[in-house]
Amino acid sequence: MDSFVIEGGRRLDGTIRINGSKNAALPLMAAALLTDQPVTLRGVPDLADIGNMRRLLAELGVEFSGDPGAPRLKVTDEGESHARYDIVRTMRASICVLGPMLARRGEARVSMPGGCAIGDRPVDLHLRGLRALGAQIDLDGGDIIARAPGGRLRGDTIFLGGAFGSTVLGTANVMSAATLAEGTTVIESAACEPEVVDLARLLTAMGAKIEGAGSPRITVHGVHRLGGADHAVIPDRIEAATYMCAAAITNGSLVLEDCPLDCLLAVTDRLEAVGVRVELLGPCPDMLRCRCRVTAERVLRPIEVTTQPHPGFPTDVQAQLMALLCLAEGNSVITEKIFPERFLHVAELSRMGARLFRQGNTVVVSGVRALKGAPVMASDLRASAGLVLAGLAAQGTTTVNRVYHLDRGYEKMEERLAAVGARIERVSDREG
Ligand code: EPU
Repeated sequence: MDSFVIEGGRRLDGTIRINGSKNAALPLMAAALLTDQPVTLRGVPDLADIGNMRRLLAELGVEFSGDPGAPRLKVTDEGESHARYDIVRTMRASICVLGPMLARRGEARVSMPGGCAIGDRPVDLHLRGLRALGAQIDLDGGDIIARAPGGRLRGDTIFLGGAFGSTVLGTANVMSAATLAEGTTVIESAACEPEVVDLARLLTAMGAKIEGAGSPRITVHGVHRLGGADHAVIPDRIEAATYMCAAAITNGSLVLEDCPLDCLLAVTDRLEAVGVRVELLGPCPDMLRCRCRVTAERVLRPIEVTTQPHPGFPTDVQAQLMALLCLAEGNSVITEKIFPERFLHVAELSRMGARLFRQGNTVVVSGVRALKGAPVMASDLRASAGLVLAGLAAQGTTTVNRVYHLDRGYEKMEERLAAVGARIERVSDREG
């Protein structure tokens, strides 16, 4: 298992181009199951999770051709509709094949995803939504077995909110399934995340009739069939936010290209309150692909922040912001409202000298003058990113173990950080 070894205290300076979004690309890839025509996706990042989705879709009869960054997906065999545990357990997002497969093939068998390091992560809302569309759903041998009576789903009005708000992949599943249902579907309390909007854009290009994506009420008028499309994946807002925090925590200056500022207003609002400047460079005709410079004041201010569904502050940036606030002058308060247990980084940051006090879903961060390098690890992608950021700023050497978690969501992070001045290298077990 690889680790990153980081010599902290180096200011970052340079340019980073933001990649296509992982969390947009996964449901976009699954949407290829809705048609027998080719779907080309441009700007697909080279990540472990994308590789897992490719393997899963290949098992379900999708043929891949073309460049890995711009793959052409085409269903050539609709005979196998079983997403097996072997693959689903490697990646929870496998659940997003359920809606498309059920809608197009009239049946699907998808292994039920288990819990993960950030919490239980149930899929009850996905199932409630698909049941409302007329699906019969049973559980057998750990698999979700879904059938559309008569081979076709039926539109209906569905309330998709849960105890923690809306569901991103649940909305993606139900919206995708509704495109081929008979009649009209209204999804109330739909997730407003930019990844849902991107999926709606692809589905519309394929011939779907969707209104309201990006708002809490999405209306889908079902059609008989969908065709192919050619679609550019939106840039990754979480990657962009992570590199913004990297600039700030090293007191550096980073230019971000293809930065989706339009999706990052809650992040830039909180960062500006800390003393981080995000300055637009030149005219920006497309606010999803801006060029901006990120710099920070020498003294960082403490803030309060609560994670919320979009357009609120994203849970996927909570760990990175916590790393930054460890070095602010005073007490910050972070409340996690999406995944109340998502705090694997707290104990690890404490090992680096951070002063953190957790109670339930709230952490009080008392800023310290400096962090100290240490061996750390976290079995969650974003927690690991927070630890890398802390390592960039810490005095001495930080070893972040088990970086395969990072590789799930950040393409070649160590190379990209090294290119802007970080002293960071990947060490494999055999060398380390
Ligand atoms: N929830 C339910 N029932 C459900 C579904 C969700 O109670 O049926 C709860 C969850 O347990 C959680 C909340 O609702 O408390 C929101 O979960 P959501 O369904 O929105 O999460 P997701 O769609 O499974 C996506 C991202 C996550 C991101 C969340 C929240 C992908 C592949 N994953 O997950 O990304 O944290 O939305 O924004 O899109 C990451 O990239 O590191 C990551 C974990």
